[in-house]
Amino acid sequence: SPSDPDLVERARAAKEKLGNKVFVLGHHYQRDEVIQFADVTGDSFKLARDAAARPEAEYIVFCGVHFMAESADILTSDDQKVVLPDLAAGCSMADMATAEQVAECWDVLTEAGIAEQVVPVSYMNSSADIKAFTGKHGGTICTSSNAKRALDWAFEQGEKVLFLPDQHLGRNTAVRDMGMSLEDCVVYNPHKPNGGLTADQLRAAKMILWRGHCSVHGRFSLDSVNDVRERIPGVNVLVHPECKHEVVAAADYVGSTEYIIKALEAAPAGSKWAIGTELNLVRRLANRFAPEGKEIVFLDKTVCFCSTMNRIDLPHLVWTLESLAEGNLVNRIEVDKETEAFAKLALERMLALP
Ligand code: 13P
Ligand code: SF4
Repeated sequence: SPSDPDLVERARAAKEKLGNKVFVLGHHYQRDEVIQFADVTGDSFKLARDAAARPEAEYIVFCGVHFMAESADILTSDDQKVVLPDLAAGCSMADMATAEQVAECWDVLTEAGIAEQVVPVSYMNSSADIKAFTGKHGGTICTSSNAKRALDWAFEQGEKVLFLPDQHLGRNTAVRDMGMSLEDCVVYNPHKPNGGLTADQLRAAKMILWRGHCSVHGRFSLDSVNDVRERIPGVNVLVHPECKHEVVAAADYVGSTEYIIKALEAAPAGSKWAIGTELNLVRRLANRFAPEGKEIVFLDKTVCFCSTMNRIDLPHLVWTLESLAEGNLVNRIEVDKETEAFAKLALERMLALP
């Protein structure tokens, strides 16, 4: 839907008044009405890398979700202030691994006698606490665009990986990109004693997957893939690796949001695509590429936005920019110093991956 012209004008005026003092980052899942004001758009890797690209900006307005804003705070200097336009923009997947649960898991691994062989690899979609745990235990962060490189690195450091919190990205990368089998993976359920696993199962596993998932990508099923292939003969199915393993196994292409955009840019006119990721992005791409004769549809029949990404809307952005322009620092995301130090270690290992 078109943005309210009055709000568009207010956002533009506030941003102009702030000038170089503000740097606006926008994740690809953001609404059109918000993304039009982003200085940089990207997947979670690109936004983590670019957060520090404007050291002169006093305010970094992060149009995305809480864990992304935390990562930006960790990776930028102390006098840069990271702002999240709506503090309720969290991520249900990141919430599936708490610091207490992960500490308990490490105790379970220690009791099974395998903790020394285990390297933690944590998906960007996790709290700063989980990133700090990862850094403390010699592990790295990864995103959907470098998960294979992160696992390659981790298996040079140790024999086993604890992958958290997204079981699907962990399993898909291990099986699809690393040649492991499904039997090499076990799922640690933080709601069960000992994760629901025996010490023997833990000792036999190469990948210990945390039982977390993305509810948005979890809605795509093998049926969605089969239906769209029937409906649109010759369609290319392109999905995000947060989808279930059976969906990824049935797809033609798999990759991060940035990969999805690049694949569609390179696609020939007349090609047909069904995309399994968040709907704001799919709609934007469908509109963008329709004039070039590329047919792009959403993989599922029912709509699925990420409700927390969608919390950042134009009214919240206007309120944020106007507050900052008036000198009121609102909605600051600030990670405490000790957490930051260890989380930064893990994030820097990711940024240094070959
Ligand atoms: P990417 O943009 O890194 O592909 O991540 C998708 C996502 O779910 C972010 O929350
Ligand atoms: Fe979290 Fe999924 Fe939304 Fe990404 S799309 S922010 S993983 S709930």
